[in-house]
Amino acid sequence: MPTSFGLKDARVLVTAASQGIGYGAAKIFLEEGARVVINSSNPDRLEKARSSLSPLGEVRSVTADISKKDEIEKLVSETLKQLGGIDTFVYVTGSPVPGPVMEQTYEAWESASRLLSVSPAYLARRVGESMVDRKIKGRMVFSASYRIREPSPTIALSSVLRTSIGGLVRTLSRELGPKGIRVNAVLPGYIMTGRINQIAEDAARRRNITKEQATAEIESQIPLGRIGTTEELGRAIAFLGSEMSSYITGAMLPVDGGVLHSIG
Ligand SMILES: NC(=O)c1ccc[n+]([C@@H]2O[C@H](COP(=O)([O-])OP(=O)(O)OC[C@H]3O[C@@H](n4cnc5c(N)ncnc54)[C@H](OP(=O)(O)O)[C@@H]3O)[C@@H](O)[C@H]2O)c1
Repeated sequence: MPTSFGLKDARVLVTAASQGIGYGAAKIFLEEGARVVINSSNPDRLEKARSSLSPLGEVRSVTADISKKDEIEKLVSETLKQLGGIDTFVYVTGSPVPGPVMEQTYEAWESASRLLSVSPAYLARRVGESMVDRKIKGRMVFSASYRIREPSPTIALSSVLRTSIGGLVRTLSRELGPKGIRVNAVLPGYIMTGRINQIAEDAARRRNITKEQATAEIESQIPLGRIGTTEELGRAIAFLGSEMSSYITGAMLPVDGGVLHSIG
């Protein structure tokens, strides 16, 4: 789909981008002419993604586990070496295990906290510093989940811990707004990736139904009647990550086919 977000030569970092939502976002930025660094924790999967995206434009990669402090430092410094600065930062992350609160161990909460709450805040700090130091009026887009507004016991770790992205976006947008840096989030509903397969498989196992039945049940809850694509979400991310959204900051945009029912 032809679009023009004015992103030609924009320097973009997308985390957790070897597949799924992050990969789809990187693809849209490349199609728009941006220079992109993609990240994930697995070097083989990341290289496979980099090589499949490379016909679209300038794409590089930095392997780092974003749940670890030292690897966050490495990711930001290597990205800055490669791009010279970051104009748009797109935060995506991995998935914690599904299941209700009553099944989660202390260790599961601890590692999911690092993955879902600590990593976006610390990455935001490091990327924000790089923008302030270089006087870049940059953009940050955090991919969270519509579940931060409508928690579900089927994915308790995600429902509880990802709410911190709401606090981060509201806090940081006030902190960095005076420097011209905008901070927003997208709240994906159901987007067709490996994560949806995992959720459908988990629901099927718990309820003794097939994965296809579980997927059909998900689709029946969505007013638009289907699961979204990573490209559809990627275009919303590119909008918030470009100057097309120049007067929007501190916003959390559902991209969910209408599945979110609440007003707030
Ligand atoms: N799909 C949906 O409908 C949906 C809806 C709402 C929210 N979400 C959330 O959005 C995020 C992305 O979902 P997805 O559907 O794109 O999942 P996915 O297809 O499973 O992709 C997850 C990506 O995260 C990377 N990753 C995992 N752990 C990482 C780490 N510690 N450091 C760096 N990269 C890491 C993986 O790459 P490596 O394995 O190579 O590291 C992979 O590229 C997840 O947090 C998911 O829970 C998804």
